[in-house]
Amino acid sequence: MANKEDLTRFATLGFEDFRRLASDKSLSAYEKIGFPDSYREGKEPEIFADILRKLPRLDREGAVVLDVGPGCSDVPKMLIRHAGERRQELHLVDSAEMLDQLDDAPGVSKTAAFFPDCPELLERLAGRVDAVIVYSVLHYIFVDTNLWRFLDTTLRLLAPGGSLLLGDIPNVSMRKRFFASDTGKRFHREFTGHDEDPEIQYNQIEPNCIDDAVIFAILQRARSAGFNAYVMAQPAHLPLANRREDIVITRP
Ligand SMILES: C[S@@+](CC[C@H](N)C(=O)[O-])C[C@H]1O[C@@H](n2cnc3c(N)ncnc32)[C@H](O)[C@@H]1O
Repeated sequence: MANKEDLTRFATLGFEDFRRLASDKSLSAYEKIGFPDSYREGKEPEIFADILRKLPRLDREGAVVLDVGPGCSDVPKMLIRHAGERRQELHLVDSAEMLDQLDDAPGVSKTAAFFPDCPELLERLAGRVDAVIVYSVLHYIFVDTNLWRFLDTTLRLLAPGGSLLLGDIPNVSMRKRFFASDTGKRFHREFTGHDEDPEIQYNQIEPNCIDDAVIFAILQRARSAGFNAYVMAQPAHLPLANRREDIVITRP
């Protein structure tokens, strides 16, 4: 039987798989978004706090906010409450099945679409958005569609001073650095309960994986287009901080 706490059982999901998970009543809200409970349960307030730290305009009264792939667990629920308290215009884009799990609220507009294939919304938001959240979603976009079309399209939405958070990006190069370290080896032994070191292979093609080259290429493309772009660490207490990182891109 598959280990319910094994993250790899959700490793090869795509947008269409998430529709199925969202409709499966036997799953918890965390499992519907592709995480074993242990990775998210009780941890989402800290994740949301980190999102707020990285996107300061999320605190603004009346801000225009877009969440691409909000899923249906506590993070979007906190975002909806937060937006309501600040009379913000909050746009959520995900599958209809996923959006149906979230309650409607004043100021919240739901667009059932595979982003960026939502031309009317893109038109409406062009140059107006103060904060775009793409949290734990980029690795699916990387496989499902053209990364550069996604990035260019999303950057066009930002208002002057607005920011895009590409959060919780699994970086296979960072993962290898971690599991090659003494700390990573100890972590692996404790997690698996076995004495062997993790197996790490270098100099091989890694299909569908984001690595350092992709991370730096995103920064370079955004900067070349006139935006400031930075890689940022996750706080160490977040569940995947040892092998995931964030990118923040701001329109000057
Ligand atoms: C791992 S979940 C993350 C959910 C939420 N952002 C969080 O971190 O709690 C990925 C979500 O992204 C959605 N998704 C994936 N690709 C998408 C796309 N191209 N457009 C809109 N949503 C997408 C999935 O349906 C799913 O709800």
